[in-house]
Amino acid sequence: MNKINRIVFLGFCFFSIQVSGQSKIAIYLNDKKPVKERIEDALSRMTLEEKVAMCHAQSKFSSAGVPRLGIPEVWMSDGPHGIRAEVFWDEWNNAGWTNDSCIAYPALTCLAATWNTDMAALYGKSIGEEARYRNKNVLLGPGVNIYRTPLNGRNFEYMGEDPFLSSTMVVPYIQEVQKNGVAACVKHFALNNQEVDRDHINVNVSDRALYEIYLPAFKAAVQKGGAWAIMGSYNQYKGEHCCHNQYLLNDILKRDWKFDGVVISDWGGVHDTRQAITNGLDMEFGSWTNGLSWGRSNAYDNYYLAAPFLKLLKSGDVSEELLNDKVRRILLLIFRTTMNKERPFGSFGTEEHALAGRKIAQEGIVLLQNKGNLLPLNTSTIKKIAVIGENATKMMTIGGGSSSLKVKYEVSPLDGIKKRFGSSAEIIYAPGYTSEKNNKENLLQKAVETAKKADVVLVFGGLNKKENQDSEGADRKGLSLSYGQDELINAISKVNKNVAVIILSGNAVAMPWVNKVSSIVEGWYCGTEAGNAIASVLAGDVNPSGKLPFTFPVRLEDSAAHALGDYPGNGKDETYNEGIFVGYRWVDKQNIKPLFSFGHGLSYTTFKYGKVSADKKQLAADEDITFTLSIKNTGSRAGEETVQLYISDKKSSLPRPVKELKGFKKIQLNANEEKNVSFTISKEALSFYDDIKHSWIAEPGAFEALIGASSTDIRSKLSFELR
Ligand code: GLC
Repeated sequence: MNKINRIVFLGFCFFSIQVSGQSKIAIYLNDKKPVKERIEDALSRMTLEEKVAMCHAQSKFSSAGVPRLGIPEVWMSDGPHGIRAEVFWDEWNNAGWTNDSCIAYPALTCLAATWNTDMAALYGKSIGEEARYRNKNVLLGPGVNIYRTPLNGRNFEYMGEDPFLSSTMVVPYIQEVQKNGVAACVKHFALNNQEVDRDHINVNVSDRALYEIYLPAFKAAVQKGGAWAIMGSYNQYKGEHCCHNQYLLNDILKRDWKFDGVVISDWGGVHDTRQAITNGLDMEFGSWTNGLSWGRSNAYDNYYLAAPFLKLLKSGDVSEELLNDKVRRILLLIFRTTMNKERPFGSFGTEEHALAGRKIAQEGIVLLQNKGNLLPLNTSTIKKIAVIGENATKMMTIGGGSSSLKVKYEVSPLDGIKKRFGSSAEIIYAPGYTSEKNNKENLLQKAVETAKKADVVLVFGGLNKKENQDSEGADRKGLSLSYGQDELINAISKVNKNVAVIILSGNAVAMPWVNKVSSIVEGWYCGTEAGNAIASVLAGDVNPSGKLPFTFPVRLEDSAAHALGDYPGNGKDETYNEGIFVGYRWVDKQNIKPLFSFGHGLSYTTFKYGKVSADKKQLAADEDITFTLSIKNTGSRAGEETVQLYISDKKSSLPRPVKELKGFKKIQLNANEEKNVSFTISKEALSFYDDIKHSWIAEPGAFEALIGASSTDIRSKLSFELR
């Protein structure tokens, strides 16, 4: 063979070794291959034991990978407001790491109160970066259970009473979290609207309420947000625990909504092996724990989807295809996260994340009342500020259950006030009340004495993250504030006419003193930057633009779940007798005057709404209709206003709410600036769920578009017709 041929031959040999070498890389490891091929290749290489091991926890927050094949474990972390501290392998206690102090973002009620999807995107990006940096591939949040009763201990983790608002706000959060290669695990699916008897209460609800009120945010999370994981809830529906529920998981979530992700149980939410195998569950976590504090140690091999599952597989009693479907979904989760080489690297505890949290808080804080324009505080005239209340100093990032966080820092309201106003005014503080022990009289007197001396009094009250306040595992006992706060506020209002009450809470509270104080602010739980965010609003550095994501009833009986008396159920069953009439839908139906309405929130400026017009008087079933109106800032400073579109069906074959939120736009206007706002809707926004036909229908006939600054502050209306 001559020299040329030898070179060609050797080149060919080298090339063929390369090619065959390439084909030697297993398909599942080759991210150039279609993900379905990678999944099938991985599946084909796994043993029965390896597949079963993937379907259940191996520790508090992790499940097995396949060490032999280099397929990584799955690591999860709470929660919706920040990345939980590391706990021990098999204990709830913090493991004492020194690198896991996170940034706490505002509670999701505050995010919802921004009515700004840009804030939801910022939130998801920021928390997703923190989860990614901590090497979590599943973030156990956000929560989108509907606010049905103001007593639910976990409402602070959710996005309020309206399905359209929750559905709109949850989507960007999920999308941005998942851009980090971290799965959002949307929870708790479904009908987990209270903490009393949460682990077994069997919820009876009409299909109309299920489809119109309780499912939409989850459906949006899956179909618009593209959520890679869903968490089943503790309670039962149709007599089956929601963590293994044929109807919710197999029929609705996986068949109808075409969900391709994993269903993860809530911690301790699994109660039956066969149901866990056949009714849509993919990953079992936290069995034999209360999901909060206790658990049998190292029970993992005995999990329902562990040894019992393996035994049924080996005996041929259950088909391996049921196992393979679970494992395909888990492998897809892994290929989307830890084995996705394109994913970014995240960041943790950064100033950028803290400022993101502050921005969200500033946009979510709601100015409920401002008589005499006490706010913003006039720092040129105010020389002494009294800050009263335990909530001015109490850490709120700790407690509340699984969303509790170990934070890098938390600015308290008092610290925020001192930092913002301390150079121009004297700040004097008195706790006024305590959630710890009961020396109420002494504290009250000292607070009154302190208030007497001040030009203005800022009372920081509300709820906290203790049991029977805003906390997982238990509900509140009533609508009223605890620890003698009402008495304190009444006493202070007698000695100082310049009183602003800032309520820190995730729920509505009763305010018998509402006419005795000048200003009231809903300050939520705002996380790491809480004190700075609240101080910036009180100072007017930020013009408040938040709007309530749920109704504040005057009395508990004004809330449907209590008016009809079925909350909290009889310990076994609970029937949602109000059906679709939840929140403002109930308020409208019963002509109740709420304390503060859904969608209510004031500004330091004023806005004038023009008359709404439409591009057509009638629309066909396949057409859109666009409503337009002008909004003018008639005040002296820039501000943001959320214009709300409600739709009213004037004649329907089934009962419908007086009106329903079907659009909102938050716009920024400088002083005297005027802009047009438009809403384009189609017949989807006119539809209701017909539980006899089992489908959404829009009935031809007369409708009305109502433009509101809140659900009860309607500024303009327009009739139109669906042909
Ligand atoms: C809890 C909660 C759930 C949380 C999980 C893990 O009980 O219900 O929201 O993600 O257990 O802590």
